[in-house]
Amino acid sequence: MKQYSISPDGEKFQLPEPEEYTREFERLKNIVHDQRDKGREIVVVMGVGFVGAVMAAVVADSEDENGNPVKFVIGMQRPSTRSYWKIPLLNRGLPPVQAEDPEVLPMIHRCVNEKKTLTATFTYDALKLADVVVVDVQCDYLKESLGDVKNGQTDMAALEISLEIIAEHIIPDALVLIETTVAPGTTEQVAYPIMRKVFRKRGIESDPLLAHSFERVMPGRHYVASIRDFWRVCSGINQEATGRVVKFLEEVINTDDYPLTVLNRPIESETAKIVENSYRATILAFLDEWSLFAERNGVDLIKVLEAIKVRPTHSNIIFPGPGIGGYCLPKDGGLGIWAYRHIHGFEDDIFKVTPLAININDTRSLHVAQLTRDALRNMSRPLAAAEILLLGASYREDVGDTRYSGSELVVRRLTEMGAELRVHDPYVQHWWEFEKQDEYPSPTHSLKRFFRSQDKLADLHVKKDLSQALHGCDAVIFAVRHKHYLDLDPDKVVETAGAPLAVIDCFGILDDIKIKRYFELGCEVKGLGRGHVKRIKDQVRAEREEMLLALSAKHKADRP
Ligand SMILES: NC(=O)c1ccc[n+]([C@@H]2O[C@H](COP(=O)([O-])OP(=O)(O)OC[C@H]3O[C@@H](n4cnc5c(N)ncnc54)[C@H](O)[C@@H]3O)[C@@H](O)[C@H]2O)c1
Repeated sequence: MKQYSISPDGEKFQLPEPEEYTREFERLKNIVHDQRDKGREIVVVMGVGFVGAVMAAVVADSEDENGNPVKFVIGMQRPSTRSYWKIPLLNRGLPPVQAEDPEVLPMIHRCVNEKKTLTATFTYDALKLADVVVVDVQCDYLKESLGDVKNGQTDMAALEISLEIIAEHIIPDALVLIETTVAPGTTEQVAYPIMRKVFRKRGIESDPLLAHSFERVMPGRHYVASIRDFWRVCSGINQEATGRVVKFLEEVINTDDYPLTVLNRPIESETAKIVENSYRATILAFLDEWSLFAERNGVDLIKVLEAIKVRPTHSNIIFPGPGIGGYCLPKDGGLGIWAYRHIHGFEDDIFKVTPLAININDTRSLHVAQLTRDALRNMSRPLAAAEILLLGASYREDVGDTRYSGSELVVRRLTEMGAELRVHDPYVQHWWEFEKQDEYPSPTHSLKRFFRSQDKLADLHVKKDLSQALHGCDAVIFAVRHKHYLDLDPDKVVETAGAPLAVIDCFGILDDIKIKRYFELGCEVKGLGRGHVKRIKDQVRAEREEMLLALSAKHKADRP
């Protein structure tokens, strides 16, 4: 039976038939033959997802000092029904990922159609042609409960399979560069034994040339620069591998302006990535308790943080918003904790801060549902059956990436409490976590399983027209600092909604003037870490009473 893979835009691609593999390998061999004549090194990037697709283009776009391309890149993607569509798209010169960076589309188009230094394929035989293999397949951490990261495990099946396949195909002295974020110890204690075993089976006596260098890619407008123009850390399993990875990175990314840090062992490079992200998760998490403190004691945490930030030593203090999402921060600490026991064999429990931070971040957004409930209650409206509009589905401002966004939990919790949810996000076309909630992010690991009454959320479609979305709402939740939401005029919002509504600010989006105006218009306002709203509310009430007194005094004085 024919199988198909459907792109996010709905285009249907038939998966390749067995006889197409030989033809495809012949196509690649011919191209590679020409490219080698031009003196170019052949790089296979395995996994053309969020990271691999753009990394492949960065490598394909690299040039020597005379402006000549130095690499030919083959983006390799397994032909699964879920991912195959990325290959034909890339081969048209189109990015297989949604990117807000204006550099992504022209760069991929240029490399595929003009420089002809980039192609994509489904056949693992491409690996036979590689001088360098860059591994960008995913390595997940699967949590079994909500708010308990220790109850979970690393899922490195895709990575392990990829490494075995690579070892079966590559020439012995190809460099294999793992960019995937992995549990510390993986390169030497998982990848090396897997590849060595296959090498021995193939009668290859040398060791695989393995190295690790993690990505610091940031989705958003500087996506390309965050790969090409940014500092890198790397390490190889032996001197030769280290020398090769340094040479490769110097040729493809901007190490003149962003010098490389070369560490002694891959476990150090792997640990650097995990510590870097655990650090960030932690400085965000510790503010959760101060956020509650602020709400309960009349403090505006946003202003407090601005006051602290002026100290250069504290300039990276950041307001956590409604939880910490994205693909990396929620999982990376888990990979480290898991590795301590399952790769390195320790039994004791040394990790206190990192899991606590992740647990706090993973559940922080549930508090937004409480604020919404309380704001509606103050307006004498029940939450059940209330029409609530969530502004922002993604995990970060001005990007369309919804992975592990705090907004997902807000929707799930409010839904199980009986509210009717609508969502607006200018950057998100499909919120797959809902539309395909029975298979996304995997059939067994949708967050759906931690909440009741979630079935109807499969019909939750992201609205594009803000006015239409606002019409008739009982509450609006400002969840993400998208630029579209920063200057919304309270008068317009209330007018469009049709009546005063509850307004919840999760990210310091409303300034005091707007908060005051919402109160004047008869709305109720609450916000994460924004205890001072009560003062503004009291002020508005006092002003109103004063005005009424003055009016009644005038009325009396005017009476004949
Ligand atoms: N997305 C980010 O913002 C970000 C930032 C820094 C680091 N990272 C790390 O980069 C790595 C990759 O992340 P991503 O966001 O690109 O993931 P992704 O899921 O978007 O991409 C992985 C790709 O690998 C493919 N793949 C899996 N097995 C394969 C196989 N055997 N052969 C060929 N292809 C295969 C998948 O189909 C998918 O297209 C992860 O370790 C992640 O933690 C991601």
